[in-house]
Amino acid sequence: MTEPTVVCHPLIAHSLTVLRDRETQTPTFRQHAAIVSKIVLVEATRLLAVKEHVINTPLATMTGSRLRDRIVAVPVLRAGLAMLFAAQDLLLDVPVGFIGLERDEHTAVPRSYYEKIPRLEVDHQVLVLDPMLATGGSLDDSLNRLKDRGAGPLTLACLVAAPEGIERVLDRHPDARIVTAAIDEKLDENKFIVPGLGDFGDRYFGTEE
Ligand code: PRP
Ligand code: URA
Repeated sequence: MTEPTVVCHPLIAHSLTVLRDRETQTPTFRQHAAIVSKIVLVEATRLLAVKEHVINTPLATMTGSRLRDRIVAVPVLRAGLAMLFAAQDLLLDVPVGFIGLERDEHTAVPRSYYEKIPRLEVDHQVLVLDPMLATGGSLDDSLNRLKDRGAGPLTLACLVAAPEGIERVLDRHPDARIVTAAIDEKLDENKFIVPGLGDFGDRYFGTEE
């Protein structure tokens, strides 16, 4: 089992504070979600293998590097879309699969409503994107679905994670790597992360009541 990686960076500390602030409105929330997502994704892709690649610069021939493996990004809808846009800025031609899950308001158990995943092979690097890891139910379910389709190494990129969710995911998927901007204190009685930032999807998409 690999301990989760918490990405420490002054820009994350700043933007995460804006995201957590209840006064922050949707347009600003979206901008800061993009900043934190990009920095987390830089760390989440740190272990990707590269292979040598010979090119001609305008002045000389040199051996550079290209990414070796096929990478597949899988946002967990809907909040994972916030991280997908950042992932596409970094991995320009990344194929994208989608898993649609929605937590039941009362039980916090995820219900599946959509799934479209490209062909996966064991040597593909799968990057699962979900900003909030609370009980871990949604990511546990997502990883099961991806493994059923033959996924190999799985990296989970999150923005805020609860200890309960990390424990559940790593207990059931000890081979997974979790990279997050923060590990918060706990879940409340409604299974929301505390201090957290509230309902990410509602705040990002402007659907708060
Ligand atoms: C949120 C979040 C995760 C899930 C985390 O999604 O984006 O997918 O909750 O909670 P868990 O770890 O307890 O499963 P939500 O179900 O609210 O749907 P949304 O993204 O459509 O808002
Ligand atoms: N989903 C969210 O968006 N926020 C939480 O705190 C928990 C689940």
